[in-house]
Amino acid sequence: MTTWGFIGSGNIGSTVARLAIAAGHDVVLSNSRGPETLADLVSELGPHARAATAQEAAAAGDLVVVTIPLKAYRHVPVDGLAGKVVIDTMNYYPGRDGRIDVLDDGSTTSSELLQAHLPQSHVVKGFNNIYFQHLRDLARPSGSDDRSALAIAGDDAAAKDSVRRALDAIGYDTLDLGPLAEGWRTQPDQSAYGLQYAADEKDWTAGARPAGSDEVAGRAMRATRAPHEA
Ligand SMILES: NC(=O)c1ccc[n+]([C@@H]2O[C@H](COP(=O)([O-])OP(=O)(O)OC[C@H]3O[C@@H](n4cnc5c(N)ncnc54)[C@H](OP(=O)(O)O)[C@@H]3O)[C@@H](O)[C@H]2O)c1
Repeated sequence: MTTWGFIGSGNIGSTVARLAIAAGHDVVLSNSRGPETLADLVSELGPHARAATAQEAAAAGDLVVVTIPLKAYRHVPVDGLAGKVVIDTMNYYPGRDGRIDVLDDGSTTSSELLQAHLPQSHVVKGFNNIYFQHLRDLARPSGSDDRSALAIAGDDAAAKDSVRRALDAIGYDTLDLGPLAEGWRTQPDQSAYGLQYAADEKDWTAGARPAGSDEVAGRAMRATRAPHEA
């Protein structure tokens, strides 16, 4: 049994938590306002869920999902995550997160910023390019014809293998994009940013449509890098 820790328990955090519990795992949830504010969610998720502080969730997780607005990434606890595999779902939205020069000029990627903040952890980018409702709806058992693939990127092969196994357990195949530096391929403004899972090619929040690894890979490899829009 795996325990998933969550730094952030909103749309994506709560969706991944639901899938993890459905796979028989335990989850420890946290947010910015304190564990008591997660009582309704914990009650809905049942006995395999509990709420804690971010520090406690980091310490409790065999695998920890960081799923907060990017502007808050420096608040992610460092010590409790040392040596751990950390899945980074975050995306850069300047309107929400403020301007980050090194992302605007393309000299790094958002997951590399988190990795620099967590030098003793193994950051794997994942879940960043799927709308949370699609993530909820497209999970399938291993071997299903209509199983979807989720892109990951990371600098540590063993960490990526752990994430691959975790994603398989909760209903998804995995497509490895390579190192964290390749993570821009599935970031906002790219066609591999959610649209592959949407029934409407122009609206990533439209109804869910399965997408296998060939489609995700094709879109990611065709990506081109452009400066962020204001
Ligand atoms: N929504 C999607 O479909 C989607 C898909 C892929 C990726 N993403 C990305 O994933 C991240 C999370 O998105 P979301 O839609 O799940 O956001 P959300 O619904 O707004 O939830 C954000 C969560 O982060 C928590 N949080 C904020 N600051 C924190 C801190 N310093 N420490 C601990 N927890 C903190 C919030 O807690 P409080 O409520 O207590 O402040 C909340 O639980 C974003 O970077 C987003 O761009 C979103």
